[in-house]
Amino acid sequence: MGIEFFPSKNLVHCSSAILSANKFIRKLNGGSQSNLVQANDSKYYVVKMMENPQGSNVLANESLGAAVARAVGLPVADSKGIYLSDTFIDSFPALWFESPAGRRRPNKGVHFGSLFIGQPSGPQRPNEYISPSRVDNIANRQDFLGMYILDVWANHQDTRQAVFCRSSDGTQKAFFIDHGHMFGGPEWMFQDRPGVAFHLEKNIYADLWNEDQVASWISHFQVVIPSALSYANVAMQSQWYKGKVDELIGRLTERLCRLPELVRADVDDCWHLIKTRTINERLRLPDSGILDFGTSDGRGTNLRDPSVA
Ligand SMILES: Nc1ncnc2c1ncn2[C@@H]1O[C@H](COP(=O)(O)OP(=O)(O)OP(=O)(O)O)[C@@H](O)[C@H]1O
Ligand SMILES: [Mg+2]
Repeated sequence: MGIEFFPSKNLVHCSSAILSANKFIRKLNGGSQSNLVQANDSKYYVVKMMENPQGSNVLANESLGAAVARAVGLPVADSKGIYLSDTFIDSFPALWFESPAGRRRPNKGVHFGSLFIGQPSGPQRPNEYISPSRVDNIANRQDFLGMYILDVWANHQDTRQAVFCRSSDGTQKAFFIDHGHMFGGPEWMFQDRPGVAFHLEKNIYADLWNEDQVASWISHFQVVIPSALSYANVAMQSQWYKGKVDELIGRLTERLCRLPELVRADVDDCWHLIKTRTINERLRLPDSGILDFGTSDGRGTNLRDPSVA
């Protein structure tokens, strides 16, 4: 049995039971320097810590983004508050933040945990990369249209990430991850950047556009999101944001009313590039994994590691 690093009192509970991290597994790729840990429910979680280098509201964005996506029926990992104690943090210095100025110790407290999709090792380990020739093998490829519309509403400022899990029938199921740059990004600074929130593998979107389905996603969002937002807001840890959350909710509510026009504007600016690019990709870069889609700050020009985590 593992040692439990859990305080006996003074815990602020969020939406559901808060877990404690028992075992450090490894540090993960990415700007927030998240860590894979095993918690006291024996499951594995990707933990994004407070005060991580990405900015003030990243944990709130993760929490709100996952809650809203889940409420509208899009596949996302379960989220939990994960307590990291002083003993745990001191026992595993590899989880500390690293910067050119040196290592920085995270503080104890309730951090954000995303339930690891699949298994951290072995055949059930998920993939983050999907080759252009394999996109038709994604069983729930349609969900990328819904997620695109959700990301337009949420003014997502980063490329859309997903992990793909192999099913027994040979297909892959996509789960959306990394919501830290939704809601105008870590500082809640809304700005129009059409097309920024596409997944790096644009072939996923080939032939997905369908006016009826778009209209149906939008009206579904307009019904479900208001209550999902207020529930998620009430349940969220207050130390996960520094911005004015009521202003954010007001802005998001207003964007929900304008969602048909927001989607139209985004689509007019960028969706045609999907088709062009898709044809080009099929002709020129099969299976390379390298996509340069010219997002304005270059976030979308990464070469993603084909292996996950
Ligand atoms: N729920 C999950 N299940 C499986 N793997 C996950 C999950 N969440 C994150 N990961 C893995 O951990 C990595 C880091 O997560 P994430 O992308 O959220 O971190 P980040 O620091 O925000 O990265 P970025 O620099 O892309 O913004 C991902 O690339 C993915 O491989
Ligand atoms: Mg990421």
